[in-house]
Amino acid sequence: MRDIVPVRLLEGAFPILGVIAMAYELDQFISDCRSILLQDPGPTGREKVRRQLERLLRNPDFVREHCEQAPRGLHVLYEDPELGFQVLAHINDKARVSPPHDHGDSWAIYGQATHYTDMTEWEREDDGADPEHAKLKPAKKYRLTPGDAGIYQNGKIHSIEYPDHARFVRVTGTNLDRIPRVRFDLNTGEVKRMTPQQAT
Ligand SMILES: [Fe+2]
Repeated sequence: MRDIVPVRLLEGAFPILGVIAMAYELDQFISDCRSILLQDPGPTGREKVRRQLERLLRNPDFVREHCEQAPRGLHVLYEDPELGFQVLAHINDKARVSPPHDHGDSWAIYGQATHYTDMTEWEREDDGADPEHAKLKPAKKYRLTPGDAGIYQNGKIHSIEYPDHARFVRVTGTNLDRIPRVRFDLNTGEVKRMTPQQAT
């Protein structure tokens, strides 16, 4: 009997250990994005994707492998052949302040993996009639810390600022390099077309 007792305890412990050990992995996140966006590609579906990204970023193994130990640069972790959405890891070494910009006719979700990103959302004060000039005013400022994800719908203007070694994961509705996008010069008011790989 003494030999059986530990076996019974171990059997009972498995389900508990199983729950604790179950991490939310990249493959599952991608699969969830697919099913969510197939069902609802609009703002409600995207909000569900944002929450799932926050869940993925709470998996320390994912963050370590794809964000902390990955080489510097922009890495496409996944592009969906049918729906077109992308999952990208931004492995930054140097601090950066971006100009205000949009993501064209796409949405983008930014999920913080390490350090932080200060976000500013902007609104146009002009009527948008002049395609080459704009007047912007800040509408919202906040900080994304590890595990936080923010969403920016089609045409929304934002800017980002982060310190050295800040790393984040973005999910975009499509490959942003293939669609027209603009950035804004706050000093001159000029609206400029963004080139590929001016990714964020
Ligand atoms: Fe952006």
